[in-house]
Amino acid sequence: MCGIVGYVGNSSRPAGAGHGALDVVLEGLRRLEYRGYDSAGVAVVADGAISSRKKAGKLGNLLGELEARPLPESLTGIGHTRWATHGGPTDGNAHPHLADGGRLAVIHNGIIENFAELKQQLLAKGVEFSSETDTEVAAALLGDIFRNQLGGDSSKGSLTEAMQLACQRLEGAFTLLAVHADQPGVVVAARRNSPLVVGLGEGENFLGSDVSGFIDYTRRAVELGQDQIVTITADSVEITDFFGAPAEGKEYNVDWDPASAEKGGFNSFMEKEIHDQPDAVAQTLLGRSDLNGKLTLDELRIDPELLKQVDKIIVLACGTAAYAGLVAKYAIENWCRIPTEVELAHEFRYRDPIVDANTLVVSISQSGETMDTLMAVRYAREQGAKTISICNTNGSTIPRESDAVLYTHAGPEIAVASTKAFLAQITAAYLLGLYLAQLRGNIFTGQIKDVLADLSKIPAKIQKILDNSGPLRELARSMKDEKSVLFLGRHVGFPVALEGALKLKEIAYIHAEGFAAGELKHGPIALIDEGQPVFVVVPSPRGRDSLHSKVVSNIQEVRARGARTLVIAEEGDEAVRDYAEHVFYVPETPTLLMPLLTTVPLQIFAAELAGAKGYDVDQPRNLAKSVTVE
Ligand code: G6P
Repeated sequence: MCGIVGYVGNSSRPAGAGHGALDVVLEGLRRLEYRGYDSAGVAVVADGAISSRKKAGKLGNLLGELEARPLPESLTGIGHTRWATHGGPTDGNAHPHLADGGRLAVIHNGIIENFAELKQQLLAKGVEFSSETDTEVAAALLGDIFRNQLGGDSSKGSLTEAMQLACQRLEGAFTLLAVHADQPGVVVAARRNSPLVVGLGEGENFLGSDVSGFIDYTRRAVELGQDQIVTITADSVEITDFFGAPAEGKEYNVDWDPASAEKGGFNSFMEKEIHDQPDAVAQTLLGRSDLNGKLTLDELRIDPELLKQVDKIIVLACGTAAYAGLVAKYAIENWCRIPTEVELAHEFRYRDPIVDANTLVVSISQSGETMDTLMAVRYAREQGAKTISICNTNGSTIPRESDAVLYTHAGPEIAVASTKAFLAQITAAYLLGLYLAQLRGNIFTGQIKDVLADLSKIPAKIQKILDNSGPLRELARSMKDEKSVLFLGRHVGFPVALEGALKLKEIAYIHAEGFAAGELKHGPIALIDEGQPVFVVVPSPRGRDSLHSKVVSNIQEVRARGARTLVIAEEGDEAVRDYAEHVFYVPETPTLLMPLLTTVPLQIFAAELAGAKGYDVDQPRNLAKSVTVE
């Protein structure tokens, strides 16, 4: 939620490689725009002054403004792309916010919870405000401390000191970046429960909400801890706590390739990411088992004896990741025989959940920054639970605050609506379930080997679905004026139905609901009217026959009431043909692994339909990819 970039260099970069601070900052904002796109703004320090531009709407609007009113060349800059919390998405509420007579510029991600109280204090001192934001209050506080408390001392370090003093008075969650005209060549940043990473260059340094903010320029990154302040110049990175005590960051190498964060010839990131899925699953499986089918999750680093004692698993996540958690429950309970609950992270800690040292909490998060999930993980740890994070973003907060992490290797996911991260999360959850089963002796090595062999065939099967998606896309385009689409599924098909509905809501703004097919007769069937489209995710006719025939009955029931039935079924399932207006087949695969296939047509359907409506599928209205506020 909100993207933040900071940059200091000591000479202009070679032409074509992002020339001055402004180019570098704008490139970072372009990559971070998925975090919010209500407005964008930049500030540079040049000629002893701050110059800034900001504009409501997407980054393109700011670029237009910069063309009309260019900024001076500079080697120090900050930039922001906003997801509005306090104050609507207007030019005036856009960041940066200025203070200290226009000599200080501040950008912010998060929520300053005590902003009203601080604003009163500053108003009483005669400070004037021009926006409704909490950010302007933080800027004014910082400016007041710099000018009045520290006497406007422009020696190196005074902005840092002012930031320390300001942070001691701020409550809530925030990342703040500040530049001051009196200290050119310095960007000072602070973080509390909100993301910030440092990028290390040669004669230049970077700050970003995540590494994509500077991935074009360096792969060397530094993780910061909570409640830390970092001061960057072209040649130095200094970290302290909020009270000035020196602190250390942890350096790591970013293994993402900048090209993998580009559209690669597709019209949208979402379409590209849907096509990345064979690779996302394959990469997540890579190197996690030996030839004998033994899982080797060395990275987990939780004492196996503790994992053997686990008597309950709680999966915590939000949005799409929570649906991956629902799939995980079916697999983990089946393989490990450990009771497994799945809970939306924002509900978890407010209901006094029963958690103890024998509880294993598995959080699932693409970004690793979702505030609700982070808070739930912290709560679980406080209660003594062991915590494992399934996460796609190296160095992010949730894995850092968990006892162990199992990274998904889906690569950067840019489109707001999650696709490849979802399949990678499910894949990682399968690996975790199999690992626990192996450790606890619940299933034989041979069985594990068989499941791993089945998993290894999934990427090619996803590819087959992608290659044969023409008729599905045609159907999606023909349905662009639908007002409502329902999704039914049973067993592991239930979370798939929920995810199919979520995708359509998120990017096509169509009313969509997912239901457990067995629940149909308990209410949802009343929604069925002439022509109502209903997707049905049908379980395999092999294996659990009873479920197959029950879901086929459900198709008949809704069809008898006028529904248009759109069926996702396994190849060879001829029984569904008679009752389906359209059937989309996916390759045969064991029931528990089916979501890795049956989800894909629903993603394609949503993306194609939203595209046909002319919507920006990568940046749907009102949403942001990384929800870093509660
Ligand atoms: C937001 C995004 C969703 C995502 C959810 C959880 O709502 O729009 O796509 O599933 O957050 O995000 P996480 O990064 O924790 O997986």
